[in-house]
Amino acid sequence: MGKVAVGAAVVVAAAVCAAAALVVRHRMRSSGQSAKALAILRELEEKCGAPVGRLRQVADAMTVEMHAGLASEGGSKLKMLISYVDNLPTGNERGWFYALDLGGTNFRVLRVQLGGKDKRVVKQEFDEVSIPPHLMVATSHELFDFVAEALAKFVSSEGEDFHLPPGRQRELGFTFSFPVRQLSIASGTLIKWTKGFSIEDAVKLNPFAVSPQVGEDVVGELTKALERVGLDMRVSALVNDTIGTLAGGRYYNPDVIAAVILGTGTNAAYVERAHAIPKWHGLLPKSGEMVINTEWGNFRASHLPLTEYDQALDVESLNPGEQIFEKIISGMYLGEIVRRVLCRMAEEAAFFGDTVPPKLKIPFVLRTPHMSAMHHDTSSDLKVVGTKLKDILEISNTSLKTRKVVVEVCDIVATRGARLSAAGILGILKKLGRDTVKEGDNQRSVIALDGGLFEHYTKFRECMESTLKELLGDASDCIVIEHSNDGSGIGAALLAASHSQYLEVEES
Ligand code: GLC
Repeated sequence: MGKVAVGAAVVVAAAVCAAAALVVRHRMRSSGQSAKALAILRELEEKCGAPVGRLRQVADAMTVEMHAGLASEGGSKLKMLISYVDNLPTGNERGWFYALDLGGTNFRVLRVQLGGKDKRVVKQEFDEVSIPPHLMVATSHELFDFVAEALAKFVSSEGEDFHLPPGRQRELGFTFSFPVRQLSIASGTLIKWTKGFSIEDAVKLNPFAVSPQVGEDVVGELTKALERVGLDMRVSALVNDTIGTLAGGRYYNPDVIAAVILGTGTNAAYVERAHAIPKWHGLLPKSGEMVINTEWGNFRASHLPLTEYDQALDVESLNPGEQIFEKIISGMYLGEIVRRVLCRMAEEAAFFGDTVPPKLKIPFVLRTPHMSAMHHDTSSDLKVVGTKLKDILEISNTSLKTRKVVVEVCDIVATRGARLSAAGILGILKKLGRDTVKEGDNQRSVIALDGGLFEHYTKFRECMESTLKELLGDASDCIVIEHSNDGSGIGAALLAASHSQYLEVEES
């Protein structure tokens, strides 16, 4: 071999060694990184753990807080709001009514014809409008004006068959899915905004902003907005979505005793015995029932499995320190928790390569429907996960291993939320004494469930239902979860009917 050839061989060998060293170093680094990512994953799993024992503690704490909230005003994080609904629909409701369902990212307007016991809902028509994001932090009258205009447009599409007796005003059941201190069935003041609505912030910027501010009469503000668009309509019932869902559920099934919303936010309402409401002693008949809006989204207890991600999300939210149960369960937040976990993996374990993908740093960019789509991906190469990561977070060329970790993060976060919501339901059943089997009593208790999370996130729903079974044991045979599809709108219309200004005229 000539000198040149030897030299070349040496150079090539050296280059090969250097390349091999680089590969080894890269492998070592990347195996160190993936070990770090896995450590973050295992830590998440541990912190989100919700074994049965812990869920029972959560349920017990929920029951205790329910008692405290009923005992005195401000006695608990659970507001336990009186709804003024003391007679739920019977089926006898008749006539044409409107409903407006406002409280998430969309609102719905509907009109129904109620035909009494035999005919029930003869006809219903609805329209769904999404709320432009800027109106969720709007100034002035914008939000309610937008809603009133949509309602006026919907009213103008009434067909020939809409027969209000001459001279009668149209009546509306208004589902307003925020905490409201009711003053009667058709009036109440806003306690606070939740779920990313923040009109108070706008108010700080613009002192002339109204509609409705905390402490203001919600129906009064809507009525003014209806007047501004020239719509003659009376608000005959103001209800929370949980109350509407309970009313809608009861209309079809007399065994419905509670309603739970698992959607953008989460909350529960149930039928309480009037004598069990100390803060209302003297004001309510001792016999009879009253529907209570628990506002369980604001529940918190030391037993809740909280993580650093939840703490950071809470601190940076529009309502820090509030709605903690909601922030670990509901659709508004689940995707955001997943994003925060992935972001930490990217920062500390170079999980998506040497740099942190810029999109991953944007709060709320990963929404719960995206998370759900990734979680339900059954393809062998997790194609949907790959596509979502690329389309939403602009992360391309992810390995199967990476995708699997992403699915695991979704699973941990969704499982915690689903199991905790089952614990919340157990808390309500305990309060009603319906969590155990009683000798000779096989009374069924039906819980009406609604909300996008429940309806569309199958794994969440299945986990919630199986956890409830696990918690209830033998008693689970008597407890039924029933999907009350958009029951809250119909429920509000039914309550408008049972509180119609023309009721006495009709009855006489
Ligand atoms: C939020 C609201 C509550 C509502 C729930 C579900 O928790 O505060 O009133 O029922 O979301 O929409």
